[in-house]
Amino acid sequence: MDDLSHRPRRLRRTPAIRRLVAETSVTTADLVAPLFVAEALAAPKVIDSLPGHFQHTLDSLVAEAERLLSVGITSVVLFGIPATKDAAGSGASDEGGIIQVALRRLAAEFGDALVLIPDLCLDEYTDHGHCGLLAGDGSVDNDATLVRYQAAAVAQAAAGADLVAPSGMMDGQVGAIRRALDGAGHHDVGILAYSAKYASALYGPFRDAVDVSIVGGGDRRAYQQDPGNRREALREVALDVAEGADIVMVKPAVTYLDVIADVSAMVDVPVAAYHVSGEYSMIKAADERGWIDGTATAVEQLTAVKRAGADLILTYFAGELAPILDA
Ligand code: PBG
Repeated sequence: MDDLSHRPRRLRRTPAIRRLVAETSVTTADLVAPLFVAEALAAPKVIDSLPGHFQHTLDSLVAEAERLLSVGITSVVLFGIPATKDAAGSGASDEGGIIQVALRRLAAEFGDALVLIPDLCLDEYTDHGHCGLLAGDGSVDNDATLVRYQAAAVAQAAAGADLVAPSGMMDGQVGAIRRALDGAGHHDVGILAYSAKYASALYGPFRDAVDVSIVGGGDRRAYQQDPGNRREALREVALDVAEGADIVMVKPAVTYLDVIADVSAMVDVPVAAYHVSGEYSMIKAADERGWIDGTATAVEQLTAVKRAGADLILTYFAGELAPILDA
């Protein structure tokens, strides 16, 4: 008989003991809920690929934010869906663009009780679906795009954003946005940087949700990262921190736990992870078929993302799980 004086199971015997020794747990304070708001919509529209989520009208957006607050979710990331798109993605920076209108409305309704984080990108607003401006040869023009991001950042800040969240993976975007915000007097508006954002197949349901398709069946591999690259993420994160990012983010989440762990070991700013649309929809689809317990799977995945080192998680499960999570 082996020496059985070491019995780890002693600490698993009762729920109260397990609770006492739990190393990681997900709480409502960790979660940020993504919300979609569409211009010129008469009623909220179901998003087929994201069960339980909607393209909101301004009124239904406010109602949903109210519901989230009532279950303890106090931060939202916002995506705008404009009525018309153009080559420059004008709606991203227009004062009357849907995202700015929505920010002003939410800020007026909820004040500091709700943390407002607009996604800052051009893809929802461009007719070609890329995250930046196109050069003559069809490539995305990095530096011309930065000027558009600066305008969008200032417009979002003026409309009430607490943090802006640049997601376009242009070089120098964090520094350019920081300079623009400071230049306009928005010193208190922070930057949640999508720092290590991979060119992932898991964004599919999101692109349906925001009516984005990339011209000519293109992809984002010329700006988002190659899924096989780990060290490159650290370089991207280091640059963003040096440029003034207040929070850095890894995206997607569950397929990049190693990257989250690396990043959290390296930086002294909070680390976010985005549990993306495909990660949500896969769980929902399998749950609908009765193949997995969707709620248990979601909690397990979000716990793993925290265990890897994320301090906060953007997730489509926020509102649904909040009632069963600790505050
Ligand atoms: C770009 C953006 C995307 C997502 C967040 N911001 C799409 C993309 O990069 O193609 C994806 C989020 C998700 O899949 O949940 N504005």
